[in-house]
Amino acid sequence: MDDGVRSEAATGESAITVRGLRKSFGGLPVYSGFDLDVRRGDILAIFGPNGCGKSTFINMAAGLMPIDGGSILYGGRTVRQTRIGYVFQNYREALFPWLRAEENIRYPLRRLGLPRREIDRRLQQLATDFQVRFDLRRYPYELSGGQQQLVSVMRALAVEPEVLFLDEPFSALDYETTLDLRALLQDVLKRLRVTTILVSHDLEESIALSDRLLMLTRRPTAVADDVAVDLPWPRTSHTLSEPSFVALKRRCLDVFEAAVAGRV
Ligand SMILES: Nc1ncnc2c1ncn2[C@@H]1O[C@H](COP(=O)(O)OP(=O)(O)O)[C@@H](O)[C@H]1O
Ligand SMILES: [Mg+2]
Repeated sequence: MDDGVRSEAATGESAITVRGLRKSFGGLPVYSGFDLDVRRGDILAIFGPNGCGKSTFINMAAGLMPIDGGSILYGGRTVRQTRIGYVFQNYREALFPWLRAEENIRYPLRRLGLPRREIDRRLQQLATDFQVRFDLRRYPYELSGGQQQLVSVMRALAVEPEVLFLDEPFSALDYETTLDLRALLQDVLKRLRVTTILVSHDLEESIALSDRLLMLTRRPTAVADDVAVDLPWPRTSHTLSEPSFVALKRRCLDVFEAAVAGRV
């Protein structure tokens, strides 16, 4: 850890600090010296061409995949010393099929050893926050894709994570469900000020849900653009047609096209 990292951690301004990150597969680099700082409470969206390393980044940040070099720290602490939540892209493989929806949500809380009253309180709170109208005693296979992904999001938030990782959380859902989930999720994340990294291949979603949008290039991955998304919260379907939103999307599309063409 260099001094820059330490002093940043000490001031507590940066919730996530990445320095000199390196990762290769079969000798081919995906990351060769990648740096990033994410402010506490920010939602950072990561958008980039297919195969540029978005999932790889989030998997390394969440401690699911080893890094080859550099560091990823959370207020100076490692991922193992940090409470994190993770929502996988594929909700069909994410939930435990043999557990009812509510038991899926309780599972990480039991592992934390929380008292039953507290576990039930959090479950109730999440059901209220996400306006759950289906029966949480159902098994995953009895739920729609949107309901299963909602349960995944609730499970990830149940531990009251300091940092939340979302890897294309809505990509398999229909548009109506996606809009609903976006609205609910942003309310909760902004109220609880959860530092969040959202990976998405959907530019509209990346802008609509983020305070800041990181546009990545093709491998070896670098930052093509780092865009402040200064749109008021909450972001609704109306936000999507506002001139400021459309202008931002245009700018990002230009960068994206240049990134895909290898001009950045
Ligand atoms: N476990 C792995 N072994 C070998 N190559 C991998 C592995 N995981 C990812 N890759 C490669 O690394 C690159 C980035 O993958 P990924 O992070 O999944 O991209 P993205 O999520 O941006 O679409 C791709 O070229 C992919 O084929
Ligand atoms: Mg991916």
